[in-house]
Amino acid sequence: MDRNLAMELARVTEAAALASGRWVGKGDKMAADEAATNAMRRTLDSMDIDGTVVIGEGEMDEAPMLYIGEKVGTGSAAEVDIAVDPLEGTNICAKGMNGSIATIAMAPRGGFLHAPDMYMEKIAVGPSARGAIDINASPAENLKRVAEAKRCYIEDLTVVILDRPRHDKIVQEIRKAGARIHLIPDGDVAPAIAAAVEGSGVDLLMGIGGAPEGVLAAAALKCMGGDMQGRLVFMTMEERDRAKGMGIDDFEKVYTTEEMAKGDVFFAATGVTNGELLRGVRYFSGGAETHSIVMRSKSRTVRFITSQHFFDYKPVY
Ligand code: FBP
Repeated sequence: MDRNLAMELARVTEAAALASGRWVGKGDKMAADEAATNAMRRTLDSMDIDGTVVIGEGEMDEAPMLYIGEKVGTGSAAEVDIAVDPLEGTNICAKGMNGSIATIAMAPRGGFLHAPDMYMEKIAVGPSARGAIDINASPAENLKRVAEAKRCYIEDLTVVILDRPRHDKIVQEIRKAGARIHLIPDGDVAPAIAAAVEGSGVDLLMGIGGAPEGVLAAAALKCMGGDMQGRLVFMTMEERDRAKGMGIDDFEKVYTTEEMAKGDVFFAATGVTNGELLRGVRYFSGGAETHSIVMRSKSRTVRFITSQHFFDYKPVY
């Protein structure tokens, strides 16, 4: 894939962030998501790719745009698969809380795990703890190994975890082991990326979140040399059938970073609201500033891009 496509992805997430940025704190998560999705779709279509959405806004019958299987781009040049979450953390955006982002990843055709819209158990760390995690081990064991790898005390590690009743037990175990916990209301992609950035204040992401979000996080971690494991969590027989239909027959399988995001992977995200890693959209007279991260697994270059957008020259829809 042409490496410049990675930079183009930043334009795509910037457009989605600028569009949903207008909905921050307005209490309407659907409108915020729709604005991000429209803007992302429109910008993607100007890209010189023959793209297919494999992680998107849902199945064709439930999402009008960026649905699984939808073709995007001009149709010429590289055949690529696309994973998107135009607005990751719809609730937090609607409430004006920290941590929502617009995000996208791209891989050569067949590169992404076709994760159904269900839950995934996840554990993610940055490059300094690569190889130290095991989703089958207890939280205490994982914390011990990560602390050893990072040459620090367990007490110095911060684990990000979604604030959900399903995590009560794991939260108790992490606290007993001595690590610090940051409970988040929503949005587990950004903290997985933050775990791979030294000094971000995040060391691990643990717990159960969305499977599509898991694939996006794996794409980002692959670009940064981090490590992630994920296992699908089936709540109903219908979910098993759906997974089967998407080619998944081993329901206990632990997916590695590489199995979720294969080949030369590109990733971009732009902050919608402020977060540990990215600043949210900031408005000024006549325009707005965005803060994005762009990376490529082949070169491992991580770019943080601050952009100023002037509405007289580039209207935001
Ligand atoms: P949305 O952006 O679709 O609202 O998802 C936000 C999110 O918090 C994800 O980051 C996370 O993986 C998932 O939802 C968790 O699902 P649930 O809210 O059902 O626990």
